Amino acid sequence: MQLVYLGILLALSALCSSLDNGLAKTPPMGWMTWERYRCNIDCKIDPENCIGENLIKGIADKMADSGWRELGYVYISIDDCWALKSRDSNGQLQPDPVRFPSGMKALADYVHARGLKLGIYGDMGNFTCGGYPGTTLDTIQIDADTFASWEVDMLKFDGCYSNSSEKALGYPKMSYALNATGRPILYSCSWPAYEGGLPPQVNYTLLGSICNLWRNYGDIQDSWDSVLNILEWFASNQDALQSAAGPGRWNDPDMLITGDFGLSYEQSKSQLAIWAILAAPFIMSNDLRTISYEAKELLQNRLLIYIDQDSLGKQGRRVAKVSSLEVWMRELVNEQYAVAVLNKGTDGIPKRFSMSLANLNITECALGYKLYDVFEKEFLGNFKPETNIEMVINPTGVVMLFVRPASIRFHPV
Ligand code: GLA
Repeated sequence: MQLVYLGILLALSALCSSLDNGLAKTPPMGWMTWERYRCNIDCKIDPENCIGENLIKGIADKMADSGWRELGYVYISIDDCWALKSRDSNGQLQPDPVRFPSGMKALADYVHARGLKLGIYGDMGNFTCGGYPGTTLDTIQIDADTFASWEVDMLKFDGCYSNSSEKALGYPKMSYALNATGRPILYSCSWPAYEGGLPPQVNYTLLGSICNLWRNYGDIQDSWDSVLNILEWFASNQDALQSAAGPGRWNDPDMLITGDFGLSYEQSKSQLAIWAILAAPFIMSNDLRTISYEAKELLQNRLLIYIDQDSLGKQGRRVAKVSSLEVWMRELVNEQYAVAVLNKGTDGIPKRFSMSLANLNITECALGYKLYDVFEKEFLGNFKPETNIEMVINPTGVVMLFVRPASIRFHPV
């Protein structure tokens, strides 16, 4: 009798509980194949860059020995196009044996030995977006178990080739199946991106209880236009999106493309600043084996990472638009703030701008605030709320400030 009671209790808690994997208390950080490597499966012509264990091992080595891991970039994630086009005789997904000759478990071991975590990609639907085998409602269980048996640490679960009702059943079902494996697996859901990204079609309360992060909007491409398009969507819909984010559950505006081909230095800073204000996952898609010094310096900026990873976990907002300038702001723990002033102008002239903390309603500390320029890595001095802060913002660039009550004595990272 007692056993029956316990059974019912367990069943109920499995149904009602949120995704309780303890993961992503701050936005996840790492690296992912898709934006830079796409579905490049030609290892004959391009052995260094095709989706296979060679690429993953090469990037994992860099993440472990070039300072990335220590800064928090720990997830190394394989996106689409890793699988064979058919399941094995047990119905399990299987990696392409030519490109992953050691198998996924061995690759996970390799990644774990370097203090990193392995991510993999699946799709709630008949096929992945790239045409590989998908996960249907009746293969969720076996796929969750397979990923856990490979000791995978993250699943990006895409949504091509399924309808809305299949997604509505499949995304929660996969969440429970992952939980039931007993292995903490970070769960990234592309579900909202397929439903327009906004309430009432998207129920962010439900999502927050079953997924750790989710894509809300379209794919990033290697261009400034694409970055602008994404940030405009997030700003226009910030009232609906801001409260969805918090520790353990994050909006994901997609990968960081600093270090690729499409963004200038100024534009790279802008993407990083706005993504940090948005409390976005810092998941790069680039080539860490050949990345430039400048791009590495930007991605490894400690104060920027400190802001992105702030433990309050509150997503920031665009708070003002003044001609081509936009002011973005995020509240951090201990009455600290991050402020980014973005210059969307393309007329070539750096813009002068002046603003006070009081203009941003940052007035609580009568003693004033210490200001730091995040990208210049410079202490700007103590500022009273009414004191004007003068800045010059380069075209398509940003000035990012870290604001800390003067009473906090120690220096930021
Ligand atoms: C979709 C996703 C991308 C990527 C591709 C893979 O487009 O949004 O991030 O995973 O599928 O095919």
